[in-house]
Amino acid sequence: MSRFREPPDPVFQRLNASLGFDRRLAPYDIAQSQAHVAMLAETGVLTGEEASTLVRGLDEVGGELERGDFSFDDGDEDIHMAIERRLTEIVGPVGGKLHTARSRNDQVATDMALFVREHAMRTRERVLELMRVLADLAERHLDWPMPGYTHLQRAQPVYLSHHLLAYFWMLQRDLDRFAGTINATADLPLGAGALAGVNWNTSRVSVARALGFDGPCENSLDAVSNRDFVLDYVSAAAICAMHLSRLGAEIVLWSSEEFGFLELGDSFSSGSSIMPQKKNPDAAELLRAKAPRIAGHLTGLLGVMHALPLAYNKDMQEDKEHLFDTVDTLELCLEAATGMLRTATFDRERLAEAAGDEFLAATDIADLLVRQGVPFRESHGTVAGLVRHALEQGKKLSELSPQELAQFSDKLGDEYYAVLANGSWLESKVSEGGTASARVRDQLELARGVLEGTSA
Ligand code: ARG
Repeated sequence: MSRFREPPDPVFQRLNASLGFDRRLAPYDIAQSQAHVAMLAETGVLTGEEASTLVRGLDEVGGELERGDFSFDDGDEDIHMAIERRLTEIVGPVGGKLHTARSRNDQVATDMALFVREHAMRTRERVLELMRVLADLAERHLDWPMPGYTHLQRAQPVYLSHHLLAYFWMLQRDLDRFAGTINATADLPLGAGALAGVNWNTSRVSVARALGFDGPCENSLDAVSNRDFVLDYVSAAAICAMHLSRLGAEIVLWSSEEFGFLELGDSFSSGSSIMPQKKNPDAAELLRAKAPRIAGHLTGLLGVMHALPLAYNKDMQEDKEHLFDTVDTLELCLEAATGMLRTATFDRERLAEAAGDEFLAATDIADLLVRQGVPFRESHGTVAGLVRHALEQGKKLSELSPQELAQFSDKLGDEYYAVLANGSWLESKVSEGGTASARVRDQLELARGVLEGTSA
């Protein structure tokens, strides 16, 4: 066998390279390299002078990358090698000392943890912003009745505020999931070396402190094999995007002529190129359609990690595009949802008209009988018969005569007509978490408390 390696095949090079996407890790790579170098000087592996030369050189490389005048080389396989190559060009052979007591395996895991932490924090800010808009909208539409649906069939009326706040609580759970993601990045991989540790008694604690980690990972094999925090971000993102898709889907329905519940501003909708009367809810449609893409990234990443033997495998290079596209897609969707909702105007009359359908009071009438001792199952059957009769006669429930009521039950008197008057069946939902306006007011106060008590 020849002592010298043949040059890599260009096809293999193209397959193997990650520079096309991992250049986004550059700021984290520079920061961790500077912390690493400082620690190597602290523990006597490098001299103070070598360390300051390297730190200064890394500053320069970082500046070039930031300004966009860093020139990449055909031979640069990934961002880590590109930075080290350029550093050595700038500072000379001492640049080669940067990689002492480190491997690209612990290096890339560290960059990824830093990236995930920063973006999980940013994502939380965007989620919070959307929650603020929802709380404001709920406050402005506190007592606007609308139909609530099951199976997309009108079921029981609710207040619009109540419906909007449902999304608030979904997002609040997303916030928690992203907080969990931040926790999952608390342990520093750097210092694990290729897989077994390094041949110097380095101070991982001081690197951890410098880079904002709680402390070093306990097990070097786990440190370089672990991408749980990436999975945590992508899985939290998949759920959050799914929530946004439900919001998007409702807005598509609500802004249709058929529902007419709301209108979006021109800045978040588009006109048709051929039909001048049309206003399309593109942003809401895209919220709906972007979600499965993130779910796809989750599946893809689980597939990458599935059954991988310990420790590092090149497969893991494939974590990045799944993560980066997830971050970009979700952040954009959150901003779009926020902006779009800010432009929404609701139509009080259309909502009320749809909510005023008396048949929505069927449960309340059944409960009227329950209060008089009739078992719910029985009263349910009685009211079903009543509703069928009214539909057959082409009458509203309130138009049935006392004689007609008597055919179904001897317990339906004046109270029956009272329940149907004035939408009282909305205010009757007084249970905790129900839609009665006093409950919604409490709920809104709790939501405000969450917003005040949460920092991104
Ligand atoms: N570009 C690689 C990645 O993203 C860096 C780690 C390479 N490690 C190695 N042993 N080849 O995973």
